[in-house]
Amino acid sequence: MTEYDTILAETRGRVGWITLNRPEALNALNTQLMRDVVAAASAFDADPEIGAIVVTGSERAFAAGADIKEMEGKSAQEMLDGDHFGDWALFAAVRTPVIAAVAGYALGGGCELAMMCDVILAADTARFGQPEINLGVIPGMGGTQRLVRAVGYYKAAELVLTGRMMDAAEAERSGLVSRVVPAGDLLAEAEKTAEAIAAKSLPSLFAAKAALDAALESSLADGLRFEKQAFAALFDTADQKEGMAAFREKRAAAFENR
Ligand code: CAA
Repeated sequence: MTEYDTILAETRGRVGWITLNRPEALNALNTQLMRDVVAAASAFDADPEIGAIVVTGSERAFAAGADIKEMEGKSAQEMLDGDHFGDWALFAAVRTPVIAAVAGYALGGGCELAMMCDVILAADTARFGQPEINLGVIPGMGGTQRLVRAVGYYKAAELVLTGRMMDAAEAERSGLVSRVVPAGDLLAEAEKTAEAIAAKSLPSLFAAKAALDAALESSLADGLRFEKQAFAALFDTADQKEGMAAFREKRAAAFENR
């Protein structure tokens, strides 16, 4: 397994684990960490033995945002020319389902990273927010767009304009998180969920994720057209024949991921 400077990456069964590991900075997302996460996630994504990815942090922080000290001195031109957060688009584009397992702070870029994932499991200690307004800036890794889609305009606007944090219960009520679990159970629940996903057929997982993404990006008519094509395409996979035969024969499906 490749060694990285700012994360730990390991494989457990069919699940790839990425643990953000900059405890000295509450897992602030600097350029090296972005590159490491993208490299590890891309490697898992290219591996047919992996069916789900978990991204997690520490008990204290999933991630406290983009690294303020790294970007503080930059000019507008440098932020644009360097496309400072650009590589995160590669993470958001992985085909494999990604679960964020969030304990502690998920602030700024940390909240935005969680929102690039497909499932957000939150410990009851999790705190979400977009505090960039307190720094004289605004969310820059997708927060103004993905938070509105996740929780609706008025909740998102209040969070972005005040910079306040919300606890796990409010995040769940708002629709930002899939589920809240006791902090001590977070990693076990993430593992269980990831294993349940990874046991499905990869072509159907890729298609489901792409179709769900289309729901966020397109009109209803375009999204329905996308779904129709993706649904039909799966009828050329061996796993569709196997899944439906297994149902008819009242047995568990043995998927071959093709
Ligand atoms: N960038 C760089 N360093 C950070 C950081 C960040 N986002 N968040 C925390 N750290 C560092 C602190 O500077 C501190 O380092 P030192 O010991 O060297 O001073 C260390 O992590 C521990 O942090 P605190 O001492 O501040 O811990 P705390 O428990 O008192 O407070 C906190 C925790 C409330 C999360 C506080 O650290 C905080 O407010 N962090 C910044 C949160 C923030 O503003 N995030 C948005 C960043 S901008 C962004 O993300 C842009 C975007 O949209 C992509």
